[in-house]
Amino acid sequence: MTRIIEKNRKQLKEAIRIYRYEQGHGYDETIKHFEKEFGRKMARKVYNELRDEMQDKEQKKFIADLDSDSWGCIPPLSEATTTPFSKIVDGGDCYRYIRMDEPGLTVSDGMVGIKLSQPTKTVSGSRVKLVVGLPDLHLPYKPETALAPSAKAAIKWCQDNKPDEIVLMGDFMSFKCISHWDAMYPGRKKNDFLSRDIQHGNYVLDMLQGITSKITYLRGNHEAWLDQYRDKDPQARDGIYELESVFRIYDRRIDLIPENVEYRVGKSMFVHGHRVGMYHARWTADDFGENVFYGHTHDIQSHSKSKRAGSEPIIAHSCGCLCDENPDYLRNKPNRWAAGFLIMYGRDDGSFTYYVPQIVGGRFIGLNGKEYAG
Ligand SMILES: [Fe+2]
Ligand SMILES: [Fe+2]
Repeated sequence: MTRIIEKNRKQLKEAIRIYRYEQGHGYDETIKHFEKEFGRKMARKVYNELRDEMQDKEQKKFIADLDSDSWGCIPPLSEATTTPFSKIVDGGDCYRYIRMDEPGLTVSDGMVGIKLSQPTKTVSGSRVKLVVGLPDLHLPYKPETALAPSAKAAIKWCQDNKPDEIVLMGDFMSFKCISHWDAMYPGRKKNDFLSRDIQHGNYVLDMLQGITSKITYLRGNHEAWLDQYRDKDPQARDGIYELESVFRIYDRRIDLIPENVEYRVGKSMFVHGHRVGMYHARWTADDFGENVFYGHTHDIQSHSKSKRAGSEPIIAHSCGCLCDENPDYLRNKPNRWAAGFLIMYGRDDGSFTYYVPQIVGGRFIGLNGKEYAG
């Protein structure tokens, strides 16, 4: 009898894993889906077990990352010294970009050596990981300018504080030039070119890779526009219009997360966001049932979900945007967009402290009292 229950439990856990984490259904939806057959109590219990196991796995990976201490080499030297960023071979067949003026870089006989890991920060004996979330950059800001002033200010903060990881929270690119929304206004597109937008995107990715070696890129709905554009023309299906190829995602060793799939960091998750409307933070908290940080709405809003006595709080927080807050397609209409980004310090146990500074007029003051202006 016990063996049968155990077998059912294992099957249920695997089914929940696929339904929740591979197919991307929300927490409430998952429980509802399985409670008919297994009962609500059992479905929730097994769900919680699975979530803890996955967090444990993530945490071990996080600690392993902190402990990693690798060296790289890059021939030839002439190529390395002519560009601010260069590929560095890490072990065998993997490589990533480094700044050639990075402190600790040693150069000799055409080989470059550098300690690749960030110095470990500690608080009360616990190692601390700094993760920055950059929501909705919608590159480029203007046809000739990659970054909005708010984005420049946020990146300056990153340059000062050297995050262990930067998460692009979706809509990194605008892809306005191929937008279906502007199809009836061809005049708006006369200064836009896809190739130039892609150049802007690569320029900013180069810049971010000069700050940190770990970039995670969440696809947003604007990234999906590139897929839609490709699908309209069979001749375009040769990789030219694939995000992976135009941004050399694999060469850069960037983790690309599919649209609407959550990316976990300790006891929180990052998503691009799918809800809009007055109470999107509340609805997002209900959808995920866990701490969740998101963009997409371009405003700053948070909602803490009611919880059992003694359990940890759950919060959903939209982190603003880093784009033009009055784009031409809004035709000067009032909106509630607000510039901001996410600063998160995580502990070994997955817990974290976060801040979402609001950027007004391209300026904000960091917690150290220093002003950052774009
Ligand atoms: Fe957006
Ligand atoms: Fe979006």
